[in-house]
Amino acid sequence: MGDRTLFITGASSGIGAATARAAVAAGWRVGLMARSRDKLDALAAELGGDAAMALPGDATDLGAQQNAVARLVDRFGRLDAAFANAGRGSSAAGTEAGRPEEWEAMVALNITALLWTAKAAMPELRKRKGHMLLTGSAAGRRAIAGSVYGATKWFVHGYGANLAEEMAEWGGRCTVIAPGMVDTPFFDEPKPDKLQPEDVANAVVYALDQPARAAVREVFLMPNPAALG
Ligand SMILES: NC(=O)c1ccc[n+]([C@@H]2O[C@H](COP(=O)([O-])OP(=O)(O)OC[C@H]3O[C@@H](n4cnc5c(N)ncnc54)[C@H](OP(=O)(O)O)[C@@H]3O)[C@@H](O)[C@H]2O)c1
Repeated sequence: MGDRTLFITGASSGIGAATARAAVAAGWRVGLMARSRDKLDALAAELGGDAAMALPGDATDLGAQQNAVARLVDRFGRLDAAFANAGRGSSAAGTEAGRPEEWEAMVALNITALLWTAKAAMPELRKRKGHMLLTGSAAGRRAIAGSVYGATKWFVHGYGANLAEEMAEWGGRCTVIAPGMVDTPFFDEPKPDKLQPEDVANAVVYALDQPARAAVREVFLMPNPAALG
């Protein structure tokens, strides 16, 4: 068991849960944050108490994230990396048909909670010349008609580039993970010909495990459905 420690938000399902599994397989310890305590407890039990800690809480609450990071550092002694991954979409696309209450919830989670993860983790990351990872999206790299969700991901890409410059001043790194469509509970229907959460988890572990001299600024991965047929 290694002693490098990774804090993950949105760890109860999809990309976050797959990343927890892949990171532990690669020798990391993980702190798991999401609102679903039962799912986090089950995942932590699967991964083992020496490797994983469930930290249930709401990522839109800065104090809850600071408390989770403090508990993780108290348990494992250090924080080397944080993955701001919690995010949500909306049921109504575009601006004219979009729902303002869903925009508020998306901004609160996809933007503000991501900032809270960076703010909560940064003092510990600085101590270890650590690594911040943010879940962006293919939707944050191109224009999609009226998409507020896509615009929250444009924020992630812009902020991630800015944070990479700030962290580089003291030897830290910041990576934006930018997947196309992934087969997760983000969607109501299965997407078997799209990326699997394990594919995105592998991209996270790739960025994490590069030597400190190599700062992977972005990993952009898309499904390749024609390869399956
Ligand atoms: N699926 C795709 O096609 C795709 C593509 C590109 C990017 N992404 C991005 O990937 C990230 C992960 O999404 P996913 O596809 O893995 O979907 P998912 O399975 O729905 O995962 C979303 C995670 O966020 C957590 N979450 C939601 N609200 C939260 C809150 N207030 N506080 C803490 N955690 C919260 C959920 O757990 P609880 O409900 O237990 O809180 C869950 O663990 C998101 O940022 C999404 O925008 C997804």
